Amino acid sequence: MTDGQTAGPRILVFAGSVKKTSINARLADSAQNALTELGAAVTRVSLADYDMPLVNEDLKNNEGIPDAAMDLGRVVAAHDGVFIASPEYNASIPPLVKNTVDWISLIREIDGQAAKPWQGRYVALGAASNGKLGGIRSLYQLRAVMMAVGCQVITEQCAVGGASDALGADGTIADERTMALLGRTCKSLVDHCKRHALSV
Ligand SMILES: Cc1cc2nc3c(=O)[nH]c(=O)nc-3n(C[C@H](O)[C@H](O)[C@H](O)COP(=O)(O)O)c2cc1C
Repeated sequence: MTDGQTAGPRILVFAGSVKKTSINARLADSAQNALTELGAAVTRVSLADYDMPLVNEDLKNNEGIPDAAMDLGRVVAAHDGVFIASPEYNASIPPLVKNTVDWISLIREIDGQAAKPWQGRYVALGAASNGKLGGIRSLYQLRAVMMAVGCQVITEQCAVGGASDALGADGTIADERTMALLGRTCKSLVDHCKRHALSV
């Protein structure tokens, strides 16, 4: 986990893939760069560090919420916003992302305090795919899920087609359209977090 040190909004970034050559991790790299340039204090995590069993209510009732879900829930709760770069699987949300979101949605208490980690978080969505649609079909489903768990999902989103060519391995972006789309999405996320901070 890497923590930003600036005074801007605290934004958590993760990719919904643990594949070593993940193109969504590249999109998350680019989002991390863009958000940092916009003044956000960015925390980047890998879901590989939060290995969770499949959601199972018997497991939850008998053994409690897994430590990895509690740990990531604590991280989510400590941020104003979240950027998720998720792959599309069969036009929908990959099981890793859905399982992670679902476990965290079951949390009601953190360190003795009532807490619902997703509640009120601003969320921006991105998807990277080598197909032409850039994973956009999954984003509408992920949007609905994140709204169901209490997040404020911003309108702007960033679907990147032909991602292996569009996204460089070091977070650089090769084409202007993707750069503009990601820039708009990240700016909107930062602006929403800042406006919210001013209103409370
Ligand atoms: C089970 C499965 C289903 C997939 N379905 C889609 C799909 O519907 N649309 C798409 O654009 N890519 C699809 N793909 C290809 C992924 O976009 C591709 O594997 C991509 O690299 C995954 O992102 P990652 O590299 O960040 O893991 C699918 C891949 C898998 C494993």
